[in-house]
Amino acid sequence: MKRIIVAVTGATGSVYALHLLQRLCQMEEVFVHLVVSPWGERVMLEETGKTVREWLSGLPNDNLFLYEHADLGAPIASGSYPIDAMVVIPCTMGSLGAIACGLSANLIERCASVTLKEKRPLILVARETPLSSLHLQNMLTLSNVGAMILPPVPTFYCHPKTVDDIVDSTVDRVLDSLRLADTKIKRWK
Ligand SMILES: Cc1cc2nc3c(=O)[nH]c(=O)nc-3n(C[C@H](O)[C@H](O)[C@H](O)COP(=O)(O)O)c2cc1C
Repeated sequence: MKRIIVAVTGATGSVYALHLLQRLCQMEEVFVHLVVSPWGERVMLEETGKTVREWLSGLPNDNLFLYEHADLGAPIASGSYPIDAMVVIPCTMGSLGAIACGLSANLIERCASVTLKEKRPLILVARETPLSSLHLQNMLTLSNVGAMILPPVPTFYCHPKTVDDIVDSTVDRVLDSLRLADTKIKRWK
């Protein structure tokens, strides 16, 4: 069983998180620990018309647990809890900056800090454009301590026909980075 923390923050692109959750919830060998920031909730509602709980009720969610963003007493806030990897999708520049500074003011920041100190994979699907030097410096800081910066940049060589295809080209890269085998991943042949 692989235990993955999925954190959703308030950048545009909540659909990336929803596609990733749909794929992970279909994997029997994966347990998802989900944390959504208040702005992650708000942007998801703006972009999809549904709350995270409404989305989760439509998914096979036996292998998923949703935590409160403020719950610093959650088991996953401790390095002693066995977690295999964490992904922040999408990741705001605010959360990315806080993680780069080592802040732990909420469960997402704390889990990212623990993931880094335990030398576990941390994948940040960083979404902003254009990027300031401050954003780029924070990304370099995080890359230098082992995090992966994986912006949602589409590929076109697979000839995407729908928005879902474009979203999945990033979600496929996230699953690869989590070292999760999924036969649905599209590859260049
Ligand atoms: C509709 C909408 C879209 C946003 N898109 C982005 C974005 O793409 N990137 C970003 O860094 N912030 C974006 N923001 C701003 C963040 O939501 C805001 O900075 C928030 O404080 C982030 O908090 P969080 O990181 O805890 O979720 C957006 C806000 C709204 C309302």
